[in-house]
Amino acid sequence: MCGIVGVLGNHEVAPIIVEALKRLEYRGYDSAGIATVYQGRLERRRAVGKLVNLSDLLVHDPLPGKAGIGHTRWATHGAATVCNAHPHRSGGVSVVHNGIIENFRELRAELAAAGLAAETETDTETVAMLTRLHMDRGLPPREAAVATLGQLQGAFALLFLFDGEDNLLVAARKGSPLAIGHGDGEMFVGSDAIALAPMTDRITYLDEGDHAFVTRAGAEIFDAEGRRANRDMQRIALDATRIEKAGYKHFMAKEIAEQPVVLGDAIRHYVQGGAINLPEALDFTSVDRLTLVACGTANYACMVAKYWFETLAGLPCDVDIASEFRYREPPMSPSSVAIFVSQSGETADTLAALRYVQDKVAQIVSVVNVPTSSIARESDVALPILAGIEVGVASTKAFTCQLTVLALLALKAASDRGRIDAGQLATHLGDLALLPGLLNQALSRSDEIAVLAERLAEAQDVLFLGRGAMFPLAMEGALKLKEISYIHAEGYASGELKHGPIALIDRMVPVVVMAPHDRLFDKTVSNMQEVMARHGQVLLMTDARGAAEAGMGTWRTLVMPTVPDLFAPILYAVPAQLLAYHTAVAKGTDVDQPRNLAKSVTVE
Ligand code: F6R
Repeated sequence: MCGIVGVLGNHEVAPIIVEALKRLEYRGYDSAGIATVYQGRLERRRAVGKLVNLSDLLVHDPLPGKAGIGHTRWATHGAATVCNAHPHRSGGVSVVHNGIIENFRELRAELAAAGLAAETETDTETVAMLTRLHMDRGLPPREAAVATLGQLQGAFALLFLFDGEDNLLVAARKGSPLAIGHGDGEMFVGSDAIALAPMTDRITYLDEGDHAFVTRAGAEIFDAEGRRANRDMQRIALDATRIEKAGYKHFMAKEIAEQPVVLGDAIRHYVQGGAINLPEALDFTSVDRLTLVACGTANYACMVAKYWFETLAGLPCDVDIASEFRYREPPMSPSSVAIFVSQSGETADTLAALRYVQDKVAQIVSVVNVPTSSIARESDVALPILAGIEVGVASTKAFTCQLTVLALLALKAASDRGRIDAGQLATHLGDLALLPGLLNQALSRSDEIAVLAERLAEAQDVLFLGRGAMFPLAMEGALKLKEISYIHAEGYASGELKHGPIALIDRMVPVVVMAPHDRLFDKTVSNMQEVMARHGQVLLMTDARGAAEAGMGTWRTLVMPTVPDLFAPILYAVPAQLLAYHTAVAKGTDVDQPRNLAKSVTVE
C-alpha cells in the first residue's frame, strides 16, 4: 500500500503533490509527507494521521520548491509517527517508497558497519542510507540510486530526490506499480494514473524491474538488465474532476446508492441485442476446470460465482484466497481458465497468483474495476466491471458489479457448453435486467435498516448465516460489519452452525439470517429455529413469501423484494451493506477510512 508521487514542475509543487496525494489516500492514511528541493537544498514536512494534517501544517509552515516527492503511508515497519513518516532522508538524498524491502535488516547491519546508524524503525530509511553511502563514496546521484536498487530484495515502487538536483527524479518499479505522466515542460510520477489525472492524461507505465531517470525534458527508461527500454505512452481517459460525495454524508453511502445505476451500465455493456457481449477469445467449450482467485470481498464474489459455474455450466471450479494460492504451488490443468477478481487491480497477492499461473493455463481472465491496473494489463482478457471510482475503503458497488460480470461469464459458459439453450439464456438475461429496479427497492429499506442498526451497534458479536450462494453473502455481510463498525462478526454456512458456532448463541448475540425463499429456504429456516430455541436474536432477511412462512418469532424480519433465485446474492448484498453502514454511523466510527485499513493492498 502507500501512495507515492513526484513532480518536476514550473511552479511551486507542494500544492500539486497534496492534490495528487488526496487521490492516493485510499492507499493508506497513517501519515503523509512531502520533500522538495528549494534553493538547491532538500526540505521536508511530515505529519501523522490523515493528509488533512499535512495540509494544515503546510498552511503554517509552507514548503517552497519546484521539484518534490510526496507520500501517504499505510504503516508496515514502525508505528505511525512523524519520525517513521516518509519521505525518508539520509545525507543528500530523500526517498518515498511503496512496498516492503525484505532484506533491510541485513542492509542495516552493513550500513552500521560503515558507520551509518538508522534513525527510524522503517525499511525505507535503509534505501536512503544506502544511496547516501554510494554518494559519499563518489557515485553521482543516478548511479548511486541504481547501485542501491541492485541491493534491494522485496517489492517496491521508489522515488529518489537529491540535494542540488532540482531537475531529477529517479523512479523504480519492482512489484508495485508506477506511472510516469508527461506534461508540457513538466513531468509527474505516481502510484497510479488516477493520482496524475488533474495534471496529465499522457501516461507511460513502468514495467516490472524498470527504473527511470525523469527530468523536465522527459523520462529515460531502463529495463531490469539495465538496457534502454521503450515503453509506450498512452492517453488515459480518467476523470480529473475532484471526487465528491455529491451530498451524501459518506462515500460509502453514495457508492451503495449508486448500485442500480452502475449495475445497469455493466448490464448494458455486456448484454446487447439480447445476447451476451464478451470478447470472442472467451470460449468455455473445451475448458476442463476454472480457478478463481482473489482477496477479501472479491474472494466472496468468487465464492458466489462457484455456485453459478458449477450448477449452471457444470464446470468444476476452485476458489482460492490469493495469499494462500500463490505459495501452495497448486497443479494447474493446461486446459483450464484462471479468473482473477480485483477492484483495484493492484492487490499484491492477487497479482502474484496471476503471475504463478502464467504459462500453466489456457487463458488468464481478470475482472477488474481499474482497466489500466497491473492485473488488467497482465491478463489475456480483462473485463471491466464499470463500477466507477470506489473511494470508500469498504467495497460495495464493486462487489455487486463483480457479481454481475461473473454471473454473465457463468451464463456464457453454460451456453458454450450446451447446458442451457437460447430460450433459457434469454430468460436469465431478462431476469438480470430486473436487478437495477430491484436494487432500488432494496435501497428504499434504508431507514428501516437504520433503526435495526441502533440495536446492532450495542452488540459485541454478530453472526451471519446463509446457505448455498447465500453462504458467501453471510461472510461478506460479516466482513462489512467488522471492518467499518469494529464489531466482531462471523459468517457461517447455516448447516455448519451446529458443528461448533452454536455454542456462541445467547440473548446478546444478534444472528442475521439471509434467506430468500429458494429451494434451500426450509433447510435454512430449520437452522434458524435452532438459534431461536437457544434465545438467539434473529434478524431474518427474506422476501414476502419467506416472511409469511417463517417471520413469526424472529427479533425482526426485513422484507426484501422477490428476486429470481440465481441473482439473489446480488440483491441481498444491499441490505448487508446498509446494515454495516448504519451500524458504523450509529457507533460514530470513520466509515470511509476505517482504522488499520487501506483501499489498495499492494503489500503481501
Ligand atoms: C472489503 C474490501 C477488501 C477488498 C480486498 C481486495 O470491503 O474492500 O476485502 O475486497 O482487499 O481488494 P481488490 O478487490 O482491490 O483486489
